Amino acid sequence: MAKIPSTAVFSTKHFLALSLALNVSFILRMLYEGEQGHNMSCIKNETDFDTKTHSNIIKSRVVMSSSTSSLANSTCTDGKARSNRIINLDHGNPTVYGKYWRQSGDKTNIIIRGWQSMSYFTDVSNICWFLEPEFANEVMRLHRVVGNAVTGGRYVVVGTGSSQLYLAALYALSSSHAAQPINVVCAAPYYSSYPTMTDYLKSGLYKWGGDAETYEKDGPYIELVTSPNNPDGHVRTSKVNRSEGLLIHDLAYYWPQYTPMTSPADNDLSLFTLSKITGHAGTRIGWALVKDKEVAKKMTKFIELNSIGVSKDSQLRAAKILSAVSDSCEQENSQEGDSFFKFSQKLMTNRWKQLREVVNRGELFSLPQFSPAFCNFFNQVLEPQPAFVWLKCEGNVEDCESFLREHKILTRSGRHFGVSPKYVRISMLDTDENFSHFIDRLSSI
Ligand SMILES: Cc1ncc(COP(=O)(O)O)c(C=O)c1O
Ligand SMILES: *[C@@H]1O[C@H](CO)[C@@H](O)[C@H](O)[C@H]1NC(C)=O
Ligand SMILES: *[C@@H]1O[C@H](CO)[C@@H](O)[C@H](O)[C@H]1NC(C)=O
Ligand SMILES: *[C@@H]1O[C@H](CO)[C@@H](O)[C@H](O)[C@H]1NC(C)=O
Ligand SMILES: *[C@@H]1O[C@H](CO)[C@@H](O)[C@H](O)[C@H]1NC(C)=O
Ligand SMILES: *[C@@H]1O[C@H](CO)[C@@H](O)[C@H](O)[C@H]1NC(C)=O
Ligand SMILES: *[C@@H]1O[C@H](CO)[C@@H](O)[C@H](O)[C@H]1NC(C)=O
Repeated sequence: MAKIPSTAVFSTKHFLALSLALNVSFILRMLYEGEQGHNMSCIKNETDFDTKTHSNIIKSRVVMSSSTSSLANSTCTDGKARSNRIINLDHGNPTVYGKYWRQSGDKTNIIIRGWQSMSYFTDVSNICWFLEPEFANEVMRLHRVVGNAVTGGRYVVVGTGSSQLYLAALYALSSSHAAQPINVVCAAPYYSSYPTMTDYLKSGLYKWGGDAETYEKDGPYIELVTSPNNPDGHVRTSKVNRSEGLLIHDLAYYWPQYTPMTSPADNDLSLFTLSKITGHAGTRIGWALVKDKEVAKKMTKFIELNSIGVSKDSQLRAAKILSAVSDSCEQENSQEGDSFFKFSQKLMTNRWKQLREVVNRGELFSLPQFSPAFCNFFNQVLEPQPAFVWLKCEGNVEDCESFLREHKILTRSGRHFGVSPKYVRISMLDTDENFSHFIDRLSSI
C-alpha cells in the first residue's frame, strides 16, 4: 500500500516529462513542417545536417511558412519536389569532382596495412618532422607540372587542411614579445573565415585588423593575399605595401581550372590545399611553401603543439591523388582521356556559360567581369572561371541573401565578407544535379 503514493508521484513526473516531450516535439514539427503540417519524410530529403545549414533551413522554413503561402502546396509526391526543394550553395563543398574520380577507377586506391603509418615520427632530420616524403615529392612534382609555384629554396610544411596552416602562419609571423597583438588584414571582400579564425581564441599574438584597403596604422602587420580571391574570383596583389608588412598568400584557387596560370607564384609564404584542387576536402590536407627557415620551424612547432603532426594516412592518400593528377597531365596526349585539369576546366567553362546566359537574360542580377589572360598550362588565352559566383542583386533588393532564400536558394551574404548585403557568394562546385537545379531556379525568378 505504501507504494501507491510513490507510484502516483512517479506517474505524475512521468506525465510531465511526456507532456514536455510532446510539447518539444510539437514545436519541432512546427519548425520543420510549417503551419500546414507538411509530410516529414519530404522535408528530410531536403535537409543537409550540417549545423550551420541546418539552422539556415529552420530559419528559412519559418520565414517562408509565414510569408510565402504558395509553399504550403509543396509536396514531395509530384513533380514539384524538384522545383521546390532547397538548393544549398552556401559553402564551397567541392563535390563536383566526384564524377572524375569515380570514372578513374582503381588508379587512386591505396592499401594501408595494420602495421603501417603507426609512428608519430617520419623523419626527425627534416624541419617538418612529420612530413611524408612521398607526399612532399608529389607536391613538388605537381607544381612543376602545372607551373603555378616556385618550389626551389622552399620548405614544405604539411597541415590538416590549409586552415591549420593559416593559424600556424599567424603564430610563426607574430612575435611573442611584441607589446601589442599584430594586426591581420585583407582587402574586402575577404574569405569569411579569416576574421573568425583569427579572433576566436583572442590570441595575445595577433588580431583581426579588418579591410586592407583602409588600413593605416603604423608598425608591423600581416596581410593576407587570396589569389584568385574567395569570394569574387579576382587575381590579387598586396594592398598595403609597407616595409613592415608580412605577407601570407592563400593560393587555394591558383589552379588551371579556375584561373589562367600566368606565372609561377614566388612568395615568402604560400598556402595550398588539396580540397580545392581535386575536391578531396575530407582528406584534410594542405601545404605551405615557405622561404624562411625560421618561419618553417615555427609553423612546424605550432602543428606539433596543436596536433603532434598531421595524419600519415591522409598524406599517403593525398600523395596518391596528386600523383594521379600529374600522371593525367603527363599522359594526356598518349592516352584516351582528358587530364584532370582539362576535365575540370571544361566543366567550369560550361557552368559559367550557363550561368552568364541566365543572369544576362534578366536585369535582377549582375556578375563580375574578368580579363582573359594567357595560361601557360593550357597554352592559350583563357578567362577566369572561379569556384564561386559573386552575385550582385541589382535594383532595390538590398538583402540578396534573403531574396534568394525566398526562392529556396541558400547563399552567403556579402556581410560575411566585409561588404554590402547586396552581394552574395554562391558555390559553383556542387554536383551536376544540384547545379542544374540552381540554374533552373535562377532562370525562373
Ligand atoms: C581561400 C580559402 N582558404 C582556405 C580554405 C580552407 O581550406 P582547407 O582547410 O580545406 O584546406 C578555403 C576553403 O574554402 C578557402 O576558400
Ligand atoms: C505544454 O503546452 C501546454 C499548452 O501549450 C501547456 O499548458 C503545458 O503546461 C505544457 N507542458 C509542459 C510540461 O511544458
Ligand atoms: C508522407 O509521404 C510519403 C511519401 O510520399 C508517404 O508514403 C507517406 O504516407 C506520407 N505520410 C503522411 C503522414 O502523409
Ligand atoms: C527520399 O530519398 C530516398 C533516397 O533518395 C528515397 O528512397 C525516398 O523515397 C525519398 N523519400 C521521399 C518522401 O521522397
Ligand atoms: C494550392 O494549389 C491549388 C491548386 O493548384 C490552388 O488553387 C491554391 O490556391 C493553392 N494554395 C495556395 C495556398 O497557394
Ligand atoms: C544536393 O544538395 C543537397 C543539399 O545540399 C545534398 O544533400 C545532396 O546530396 C545534393 N545532391 C546531389 C545529387 O549531390
Ligand atoms: C602594391 O604592390 C603591388 C605589387 O605587389 C602593386 O601591384 C600594387 O599596385 C601596389 N599597391 C599600391 C597601393 O601601391
